[in-house]
Amino acid sequence: MVRLAIIGCGGMAATHRAQFGELGSRLKVTAAVDLDLNRAREAARAVGAPHALADFRQALPYADAVLIALPHHLHHPVGMECLAAGKHVLMEKPLANSERECLDLIAAAQAHKAVLMVGYIMRYHPLVVRLKELIDEGKCGEVFHLSIWTEQYTRVAEGHWAHKAATLGGGQLFSHGCHYIDLLLWYLGNPVEGCHTGTNFGTPWMEREGTSDVFIKFESGAVGYHGGTWGAKGSRLGYAFHAHGTEGMLELDFAKGRLSFHCDGKEETLAESETGMKHAARQMAHFLDCIQKGAKPVTDGPGSLQGLRVIWRLYEAERNRTVADLRGLGLSAPWR
Ligand SMILES: NC(=O)c1ccc[n+]([C@@H]2O[C@H](COP(=O)([O-])OP(=O)(O)OC[C@H]3O[C@@H](n4cnc5c(N)ncnc54)[C@H](O)[C@@H]3O)[C@@H](O)[C@H]2O)c1
Repeated sequence: MVRLAIIGCGGMAATHRAQFGELGSRLKVTAAVDLDLNRAREAARAVGAPHALADFRQALPYADAVLIALPHHLHHPVGMECLAAGKHVLMEKPLANSERECLDLIAAAQAHKAVLMVGYIMRYHPLVVRLKELIDEGKCGEVFHLSIWTEQYTRVAEGHWAHKAATLGGGQLFSHGCHYIDLLLWYLGNPVEGCHTGTNFGTPWMEREGTSDVFIKFESGAVGYHGGTWGAKGSRLGYAFHAHGTEGMLELDFAKGRLSFHCDGKEETLAESETGMKHAARQMAHFLDCIQKGAKPVTDGPGSLQGLRVIWRLYEAERNRTVADLRGLGLSAPWR
């Protein structure tokens, strides 16, 4: 059994804790921590944790592992203290707000022989995983174009940390698009070059972009696209992936919970899932496997850093009005 402290008891922590029941006796939440003690108490009550605390340091004696679900600028300082105390860390995405901070966290995990896993929760969605298998099996031939749309309407209270670039670490692409850059690298391999255009027109509450369009060319010759917005008051696509290959198209329609194959005007359903978008219990089960069975996190520090480097280079090229050189940034490429 792994003793877990939840650090940060806001929106995402609630998504996690609602699924802890599926993990049975593998996990015991011993402490819930939030600067807002009422939130910590509510979370502790919901999961039967004996301790509700405002300072994460006080939770560490009760925990083998921590789930860090804090504003992005706190990922690094809090993660570093937890790792230095020998705790395994499941860090909500993105790993941290700068290259230096990510490298520190990766090195600290290595030095203290602790698991450091990043909460790229889409990687644990059964249809997302099945799409990867089908692409690798060549179901639609060779993929030459993969589009990922995420259209949502995201508003948080005025003054919330997500509005400011300094606390969010960037804009919509950094905060939310990091899931989909990670998936594009996972599906399509080594990137070569790319560009990004973002705007906060339509999401004026965001200091940086709330709407983001990315194109990436890969070594295979394929082009990956991610269009994401936090300003969609209506949507038909919602969350949808289209993989066009030489033999047809694989479509992942999250609203219908369906993965299908299209060719010559015909549609074949290949897999369905009626469960929700966020498979937090599957993700946590993998984290527990890493702690208890020595599995390597599929969403580890170095891989997540490579994805963030792609984003930082895209941002830099956007500022300079050039095309970003993305060579050397694959998930399995040397990262040091
Ligand atoms: N994977 C996903 O789908 C997904 C979705 C939403 C958020 N997230 C991630 O989860 C993390 C948290 O986001 P959120 O939406 O839950 O934010 P949130 O603002 O709802 O919650 C953050 C919580 O941290 C608390 N907090 C702030 N400073 C603290 C400190 N020093 N010590 C203890 N508590 C402190 C706040 O009081 C708040 O309750 C972020 O990394 C975010 O990117 C992931």
